[in-house]
Amino acid sequence: MRSHEAGALHGQAGDRGPAWLRVPEDPDVLVRHLWSSGVAKADGVLSVAGVTAPELAEEFGTPLYVVDEDDFRGRARAFALAFPDADIYYAGKAFLCVATARWVAEEGLNLDVCTGGELAVALRAEFPPERIGLHGNNKSVAELRRALQAGVGRIIVDSVEEIARLDALTAELGVQAVVMVRVTAGVEAHTHEYISTSHEDQKFGFSIADGAALDAVRRVVDSPGLTFAGLHSHIGSQIFVTDGFEVAARRVLRLHAQVATELGVVGAELDLGGGFGIAYTTQDDPATPDDLARGLLKIVDDECAALDVAVPRLSLEPGRAIAGPSTFTLYEVGTTKAVGLDGGASRRYVSVDGGMSDNIRPALYSADYSCTLASRDSGAPAVLSRVVGKHCEAGDIVVKDEYLPGDVRAGDLLAVPGTGAYCRSLASNYNHVPRAAVVAVRDGEARVVVRRESEDDLLALDLG
Ligand code: LLP
Repeated sequence: MRSHEAGALHGQAGDRGPAWLRVPEDPDVLVRHLWSSGVAKADGVLSVAGVTAPELAEEFGTPLYVVDEDDFRGRARAFALAFPDADIYYAGKAFLCVATARWVAEEGLNLDVCTGGELAVALRAEFPPERIGLHGNNKSVAELRRALQAGVGRIIVDSVEEIARLDALTAELGVQAVVMVRVTAGVEAHTHEYISTSHEDQKFGFSIADGAALDAVRRVVDSPGLTFAGLHSHIGSQIFVTDGFEVAARRVLRLHAQVATELGVVGAELDLGGGFGIAYTTQDDPATPDDLARGLLKIVDDECAALDVAVPRLSLEPGRAIAGPSTFTLYEVGTTKAVGLDGGASRRYVSVDGGMSDNIRPALYSADYSCTLASRDSGAPAVLSRVVGKHCEAGDIVVKDEYLPGDVRAGDLLAVPGTGAYCRSLASNYNHVPRAAVVAVRDGEARVVVRRESEDDLLALDLG
C-alpha cells in the first residue's frame, strides 16, 4: 500500500479499506473466532455468558472491559492440558488483578510477574509464592528483597549487577534464591519492533553470541546464595510462526549443553517464554495450545537428542493467548461524521466514549482491531468505518478499519473483541479520563473485579 505524505492513516481508498478487510455479507453477524466462547448475538444484541451488552452498559457504564471468566479459565486450562509435563506461567503483564490471579491459581498454572506492583497483586490474591516467577531487566533491591522474603519460586536474572545484588540479599536474609538466566538468542521475531525481544540490539537478556550468557551462568554458579535452575528465552509477542521459537530453542539448548560441559552444572529447566499470537481480525490465524505443544516439544526433543543431553523441564509464559480473547470492550457511540477523502471517497468516523486511554495498542503498535454493533439489529448496508475515541489527539483510533452498518448512531453500543491483554494493563488517565472498570461474567452473573476510577480517584494525587 502506498502511504500518503500525511502518513499511513491518510488518503487510503475510503470506500474499500485495507486489502485484508472483506466486505461482510451481513455486518450484524459475529466473526465467531474473534470472540470469547461465551459470546453470542441474537436479534443484533450481543451477550456473554447470558448477560446482554445493554444490561452490562446499564449496570456498569461504558467504556467497560467485559471478561468472559470461563473463556479465560478455559484458555489457561488448555495450555496446562496441552503441556502436561511443562510448567505454564501466566504472564501477568497481559492483565493482572486479584480475580485473574485467583483464576490462574485455581486452574493450576504458575504466574510470571515483572514488577513489585504485579508481585503485590499476586500476594494480595494469596497466589502460592513458590509458583511465582519474577522477571525484569532492572529490578530494584527492594523488589528483589520482597520477592525473597515472600518466597517466590524463581527469579529470572537479567544483568550482572542483579546477580551480585541478589547474592548479597540472600546472605542478608539467610535464604537461597532459585535463579534462571535470561538469554538473547539473536532471533528477529516477525512482529512489531517494540514487542520483539530477542534480536541483539535491545535491553533484555544476556547475549549467547558474545559469550555474555555463559559468563552470567558462571557468575550465578559461583554465587553461594544462588541456585542455577536453567536458561530463559522470550523472543517477542504476537508471534504466529514457530520458526522463531525453533531457532531460539536450538541456540538456547546449545548453550544449555555448553553450560553442562564447561561449568559442570545442568539446568533442570528451560523456559521458552510467551508470545503466542491471537486473532484480532480476520488477518490473524493463531495456533491452538495443542498445535504449539506438538511443534515446540518436537523441536526441544530433537535438539536435545542431537546434542545428546537430557530434555530439561520446559516452561512457557503465555499472557496474551490466555487473557486477550477472553475480553471485549463495550463502548457507547456519541457522534458520527462522514469525512471526504481524495478522489471523492469518504470515510465514516464513529466516535465512542473511550479510546487511547483504554486501548493504546492501535496508537502504539498500529494494531488492528475489529468491532460489532452490540445493542440492536440494523439491516443497514455495511459502510467502511473508523472507530475513534474521545481524546484530544488525531491518532486516538480504536478500530482503524471495519465495516459497520451505515446507520450506526449516537446511543448505540459497539463491542471490540480481543481486548483482554495489554489494554487495561496499559491504560492511562490521558486527558484526565478515569480508567474503565473490568467486569467478569460467568453463568449469567456479572461482577466488578476492577472498579471504574472516579473523579475523586483522579484528584486524589493532586495536592494543589
Ligand atoms: N514472558 C516474558 C519474559 C515477556 O516479556 C512477555 C511479554 C511474556 C512472557 C508474555 O508475552 P505474550 O504471551 O503476552 O505475548 N504491550 C505489548 C506486548 C508486550 C509484551 C511484553 N512481554 C502489546 O500490547 O502487544
